[in-house]
Amino acid sequence: MPREGGKIDWSEDRWKDILIGPRKYFWPEETVERLAAWFGLEPGMVAVDVGCGLGYLGYTYWPHFGAGGRYIGVDESPELLDDAARAAEEWADGGEAHFVAGDCYNLPFPDEFADVAMCQTLLMHLEKPERALAEMARVVKPGGLVFCKEPDNVSSTLARSYSSLPDLSIDEELLDVKVTLVSHKGRIELGRGDNAIGARVPAMMKELGLTDVDVRMNDRVFHLEPPYEGPEQQHRIEMMRKFFIDDEHREYRLSRSRENYVAGGGTAEEFDKMVEIYDRIRPLVQEQLEAGEYFSCGGGFVYVAKGRK
Ligand SMILES: C[S@@+](CC[C@H](N)C(=O)[O-])C[C@H]1O[C@@H](n2cnc3c(N)ncnc32)[C@H](O)[C@@H]1O
Repeated sequence: MPREGGKIDWSEDRWKDILIGPRKYFWPEETVERLAAWFGLEPGMVAVDVGCGLGYLGYTYWPHFGAGGRYIGVDESPELLDDAARAAEEWADGGEAHFVAGDCYNLPFPDEFADVAMCQTLLMHLEKPERALAEMARVVKPGGLVFCKEPDNVSSTLARSYSSLPDLSIDEELLDVKVTLVSHKGRIELGRGDNAIGARVPAMMKELGLTDVDVRMNDRVFHLEPPYEGPEQQHRIEMMRKFFIDDEHREYRLSRSRENYVAGGGTAEEFDKMVEIYDRIRPLVQEQLEAGEYFSCGGGFVYVAKGRK
């Protein structure tokens, strides 16, 4: 059942899949190590993960704080929390990893409860991200850490990247840019969240009165190169097939994007011109992948902002 206001139910398979596959190589391992040191994570800390989904931040940073520490994942989806708790039996290896149902606007913790409050790709989906960030700050101790890993998907879409596909015409490129900007505006107007929030989080932290605000970016580059050797390249091919070529939920996703575009002031007809362009490209990608001729290289903008209470 679609939710009121088009709010995503992340426990539906079409969304839950995004919390599994694409997470596998989301952050380079050495970047995670560097970030853990930059955050100052230490064994014994109590960390709250807000909008935890399947517990990604938990299993990613557990080696840095888990010994003698505690992880509590909070999410509004009890279905996801059940899956996350099952997975944690393995990654937390008998340590204190817990999951509780709760709302990010009203976290189920007293003031000054945790050493760390963290989130990843949560704020971008919220109508009132400032309120959620204020809740995260409320539950950390004085001097405690708040960190957020949030993308700027608008800039990622507009950024130039290389691929072996034929270039679009200038008019097609301009339509692509227009669809991206108008849909972004519409998404916010529909209360579906700011897809470019990553670059805004440091200012939000400052506004909230957090100190020592600082920011980094993900240095992951998505490149595909024949013969697609190794697990990471193979994983990328699998994700391209799943989300770009065979996407069984395509109509549903396109209709959401069309709603965003129209809410931002565009017309459905114009949006559908862009869909025609995607439809022209899809079989070309498939042909090149199968012939082992498809190359691509490009980055995405994901910001990591931290601040202290
Ligand atoms: C894109 S997912 C990110 C999950 C996880 N942080 C990750 O990076 O894999 C967003 C998560 O936020 C949760 N969420 C959305 N709105 C929420 C709210 N108001 N309170 C608590 N959780 C919420 C969703 O159920 C979903 O699991």
